[in-house]
Amino acid sequence: MSDHRKDDRAKRLAQIREALGSRSIVLIGLMGAGKTAVGRRLASRLDLPFLDADNEIEKAAGESIKEIFAEHGEAYFRKGEQKVIARLLESGPQVLATGGGAYMNPETRDAIKALGVSIWLKANLRVLMKRVQRRDHRPLLATGDPEAVMKKLMAERDPVYAGADITVESREVPHDVIVGAAIDAIAAQLGCGNRSGRGASTAANDKRAR
Ligand code: S3P
Repeated sequence: MSDHRKDDRAKRLAQIREALGSRSIVLIGLMGAGKTAVGRRLASRLDLPFLDADNEIEKAAGESIKEIFAEHGEAYFRKGEQKVIARLLESGPQVLATGGGAYMNPETRDAIKALGVSIWLKANLRVLMKRVQRRDHRPLLATGDPEAVMKKLMAERDPVYAGADITVESREVPHDVIVGAAIDAIAAQLGCGNRSGRGASTAANDKRAR
């Protein structure tokens, strides 16, 4: 890449950080959407800290999510999840990956709206199933028919995830491609730089198109 393009890129990333202020970039979406993998790379590109809400919940509880679900139940996990995310959002700017159910909580949605810029990583059923099959740490999918559960969750959650500030398609391409699309979309949403936000839709772009 030429020095000139490198300068432009660095300038745009600095503009994003400035426009973000103390807000966090919050990744939402279903299990297997790639929130952690994309979030980690996005944070590194933006030179911001990366936090994974599920990890922080596990740290606070001193137990794995699987153990929390088994010993205390889902309702208890959801309470802890709400509390931990509210706390984490107070310490932006950062990139924050949330667990798939977090955004379904209205209080968490309000907190994200107030203190963050949300990105829905949207993937189709085939991609999600392929990714979640690699590991077995997700209690909600520990059933005889994880695909039926995933379909049900998609039907319930996708309309809510659609309220995010930005939607980025999480396809089977290298994570860096998704990160590039996310950066374009964040820049468009925050009014920095002049690239279009290819592969993504943003609340700001959608408003302009209407
Ligand atoms: C959940 C998703 C998980 C984790 C928990 C519940 C959900 O996180 O928070 O198992 O309700 O979708 P990931 O989306 O990071 O797998």
